[in-house]
Amino acid sequence: MCGIVGFISSTEHDSNLVFNGLKNLEYRGYDSWGIVADTDQQLVDQKFLGKITSFPDQIPPSFISLGHTRWATHGGITLDNCHPHFDCHHQVALVHNGIVENYQSLQKDLKNHRILGQTDTEIIAHLIEKYRQKHNLLESVRLTFNQLHGLNAIAVMEHQNNQIIVAKNGSPLVIGLGKNANYLASDINAISNLTDQFIFLEDNWLAQITPQNVQIFDSATFKKIKYTIQKISSSLTDTDLNGYPNYLAKEIHQQFQIIKNINQQNLNQPINQILKLAQKSDQIFFTGCGSSYHAAYFNSLIVSPKINRPVYSFPASEFSPYDNFLTDKSLLVVFSQSGETIDAINLVNFAKNRGVTVASVINSPYSTLHRLADICQILPCGPEKCVLSTKTFTAQLALFLRSIGQDLTDSIFDIQQILKTRYLSKINLLAQKIASYQHIFIIARGNSLPIAHETALKIKEVSYIHAESFSGGELKHGPIALIEPGTPCIIIAPNDSHYDDIISSATEIKARGGWIIGISSKNNSVFDNYLSVSDSGLSTALSITVIAQILAGQLCQIKGYDPDKPRNLAKSVTVK
Ligand code: M6R
Repeated sequence: MCGIVGFISSTEHDSNLVFNGLKNLEYRGYDSWGIVADTDQQLVDQKFLGKITSFPDQIPPSFISLGHTRWATHGGITLDNCHPHFDCHHQVALVHNGIVENYQSLQKDLKNHRILGQTDTEIIAHLIEKYRQKHNLLESVRLTFNQLHGLNAIAVMEHQNNQIIVAKNGSPLVIGLGKNANYLASDINAISNLTDQFIFLEDNWLAQITPQNVQIFDSATFKKIKYTIQKISSSLTDTDLNGYPNYLAKEIHQQFQIIKNINQQNLNQPINQILKLAQKSDQIFFTGCGSSYHAAYFNSLIVSPKINRPVYSFPASEFSPYDNFLTDKSLLVVFSQSGETIDAINLVNFAKNRGVTVASVINSPYSTLHRLADICQILPCGPEKCVLSTKTFTAQLALFLRSIGQDLTDSIFDIQQILKTRYLSKINLLAQKIASYQHIFIIARGNSLPIAHETALKIKEVSYIHAESFSGGELKHGPIALIEPGTPCIIIAPNDSHYDDIISSATEIKARGGWIIGISSKNNSVFDNYLSVSDSGLSTALSITVIAQILAGQLCQIKGYDPDKPRNLAKSVTVK
């Protein structure tokens, strides 16, 4: 979603510095972008709709600059709505992540201001302008920021005023410290090539940044805050495609090595601590959003019998009915690739206020969910660039499978076979046929149900085919009405206690003309097409997932879409 990058320096830089930072944030998803820099005469800005392609030729070298990638929430994808936003006199420039929930009421006090777009952001620049008549820039930003409702991060600069002011609540911001230069970004990846010293801002912190100095204040009390500087090496980015046509393909293929590494790892990790805590907690909740929720769901199903305790799983965005059951004896385990998903962060903040022990299982070190959690398990995946979660999802599963004592060797071998040309071609033949359909259903039971949900999510995200997952047990209670002659139905049928039941579901679908595509370690006469996986017990879920990801990627390719940046989606969902 939206991204912020900026710098202030005692020597002039061209806008490459901000431009490259924005490029590092591209993977998060956006639909327009812009940069502003200061010159002796005025603030100069340039805005663009669509992808970051060429360097902004009108931005001169400068001592101070801000950039932004926008993912539209309020107002269409237009240049007027694109950041940076300005006050009436083009003296104050502002970039913003988040949503100003009370922007309509704040706008009522800005009757005489010239507001050009429809965003919630633009009014912030005008409020600062209003306060600026009586106060300095720092105080004007503080007074403005304290009026904003919602989870927001802002960065502000002013013509011929050698400082950048930033403030945050909820939405992340990090300051990078350089030599006679300081940087800021909403994601450490944007500036990790410029410095190894960082300050992660906490909620309701306000910072004044000059080339030589950073001062931080509590935005409510204006008291100075003593901050800590973290030294972090810049090996966070692995941006090469390494010969793959796109990040989806690269990240699908990386899974073989990642799962192999997980299988070989010494298990003395935070994940064991999480399981030990689970055994002692009164209630155990696993949560996440999207694919990470599917991982939470699968892991809750496999951990529960292991510890002989119920483990409940819910999407983080739908947790509120259970809020009152969170106590200081509960354990909340939150799964996330980015560590910045706002629904998960909101739930974690709520849970922490109730004294809950929070564990996070994430792929992004130094993210908000890393810093908020009492225990954090970092996934050994490296950065995931494609908007689709692939390697993060299987790593989330693999770690928990290992932690409950599963040996992943068979599934690793199986994944190696699936990634070979012969198997890929087999999936491709199937994808060619499926691509012309508007609907596809995925049916599973038991531990495979979260894998069916994940399969459906992958297909719909990247091929835009309507893919829906159903429990085999629920089929006759409604969904079977959707089956028409030829309707493609993927039946996930590992060799487990549900095999016979799921085959019965397949038979019932077939009796109504449905096209049965079986993914299983046991072929069956009901399958019209059969994709084989080896029987690796609970870990069979890993091979099935990889097949589903490949199928989704091939459907995308056949339909001619961009697998790394599906329409309307963002990698980090940082707004509600
Ligand atoms: O970064 P997170 O894992 O918290 O993100 C959660 C979802 O937004 C994410 O899994 C989303 O569903 C992916 N696009 C799935 O491929």
